[in-house]
Amino acid sequence: MRITDTADLWWKNAVIYCLDIETFCDSDGDGVGDFSGAAQRMDYLAELGVTCVWLMPFYPSPQKDDGYDVMDFYGVDGRLGTLGDLVEFIRTAKDRGMRVIADIVVNHTSDQHPWFQQARSSKDNPYRDFYVWRSEEPPDTSKEVVFPDKENSIWNKDEKTGEWYLHRFYSHQPDLNISNPAVRDEIAKMMGFWMELGLSGFRVDAVPFFLETMGTPEGESGDPHDYLQSLRRFLSRRSGDAVLLGEVNLPYEKQLEFFGDAADELNMQFDFIAMQQLYLSLARGDARPLASTLEARPPIDPDNQWATFVRNHDELTLDKLSDSERKEVFAAFGPEERMQVFGRGLKRRVPPMMGGDLQRIKMVYSLLFSLPGTPVLFYGEEIGMGENLDIEGRLAVRTPMQWTDEDSAGFSSAPPDKLVAPLVSGACGPDKVNVAAARRDPASLLGFMGTLIRRYRECPELGWGEFQVIDQPNPAVLAHRSVWEGNSVFLLHNFAAEPATVTLKMDDDDVPAEGGLLTDLLQDSRRPISPGEDLELELEPYGFRWLRVQRPGTGRLW
Ligand code: NOJ
Repeated sequence: MRITDTADLWWKNAVIYCLDIETFCDSDGDGVGDFSGAAQRMDYLAELGVTCVWLMPFYPSPQKDDGYDVMDFYGVDGRLGTLGDLVEFIRTAKDRGMRVIADIVVNHTSDQHPWFQQARSSKDNPYRDFYVWRSEEPPDTSKEVVFPDKENSIWNKDEKTGEWYLHRFYSHQPDLNISNPAVRDEIAKMMGFWMELGLSGFRVDAVPFFLETMGTPEGESGDPHDYLQSLRRFLSRRSGDAVLLGEVNLPYEKQLEFFGDAADELNMQFDFIAMQQLYLSLARGDARPLASTLEARPPIDPDNQWATFVRNHDELTLDKLSDSERKEVFAAFGPEERMQVFGRGLKRRVPPMMGGDLQRIKMVYSLLFSLPGTPVLFYGEEIGMGENLDIEGRLAVRTPMQWTDEDSAGFSSAPPDKLVAPLVSGACGPDKVNVAAARRDPASLLGFMGTLIRRYRECPELGWGEFQVIDQPNPAVLAHRSVWEGNSVFLLHNFAAEPATVTLKMDDDDVPAEGGLLTDLLQDSRRPISPGEDLELELEPYGFRWLRVQRPGTGRLW
């Protein structure tokens, strides 16, 4: 590929790291993480190989949905620092070669947002149309709520004006009316503001809900995808390489619509479907659910990208599995009710789900970095943090980052009972799992993760290449290949607790007539390979291999 096709598409092989300032590092001892603390940890992130930090919401908020309930789109929550501290954070990240993106939550605001306070004050207030109202008693929408443990309708009656407002999420999060041009302008203005301060783009919250035009006469506001295109054009004009990474948990065919017909809407979307099938494969010790899902995943424009993840900050949702498949995953990884949430997901992190089996945990992360897409890590995954099941709902995985084995995990000098969130205890607690110890242990998960990230960055085939599942007879093994510019990387993953042998038959175009170079990327060995040579490869239980066949003169890093 030529420069004209590839330059500036930094998200194609980025390493994205999601963190919440509140729980990452506290510099002033008040028990709440802050921008200054996180800035001090920038070298850690750079050393790990992170290329893009994704900040969870840091805006002023009543904190009824951990900051996803925003009451001022132009500010920084005072507990986390000031706008100046945020800019210093972004500046420090850039100095270490990292970009920063942030959550933008524009499907709704907090009910404390001045717009909503105005809107609910009277029916003829100029801000009334910033939200979606209905005057008639709403029908039963209990099946449409996102948080079934807390809500039973997507409409809530506002007593003062006697009308109902739409809220897809909690009732304290009224949905913005994006069919109102004034709201659209506000969204653009606010995105422009954060771009001026140095962000490289946004993780767009709840995109399908945000684009809904409920409450307006059909057709009046135009096609919501036209709007997403115009937002994307606006952003690109402000900053040519800005990314929009969208949360769209829908079947693939629907997701395609959000990339846009001409790759002119979201640049990236999380791959919720493959993530869920990955857990089904892990539960069954059978690679086929994941393999067939990836094979069926529709092709996307080279400018677009999937964002792959094995854990995020929400429940590990299994909503796109069938009831019986979900039961299988629950039985394998979260059999107790307290491990489950909303009847559709798990409150757990990877290491406890894998029973603490380091080999199996490594296999999961080897997949994360070698499946086609851009890997996204949730803070603490790199050291193997666990969850605190005593914490309600999704917050079980949003515990303070574990830096040391000290009482407050090196997260804060405040005592543990004064921290913004309780710590993890038990096998994954800070006394057993922390950055300081992991950095000094060559066999740690952290060390392994660093190696994976380096190899992933050294293999443009992974981020850029064309993906193919390789046919082979063992159902427990996922064998796949990523090909880019004539070079291939072969990836093997054994989902079973038994060893496996895989024969890889090299196609004519895998190895050039003059021979190539076979590199075992994780075992640091290499040798020449001849055309027509088959490879017989051993995989230990939950084993994995990354192999690259390169043409002479390719110049890949060795
Ligand atoms: C999706 C976010 O990931 C989640 O944490 C939040 O509660 C909802 N959107 C509402 O903003």
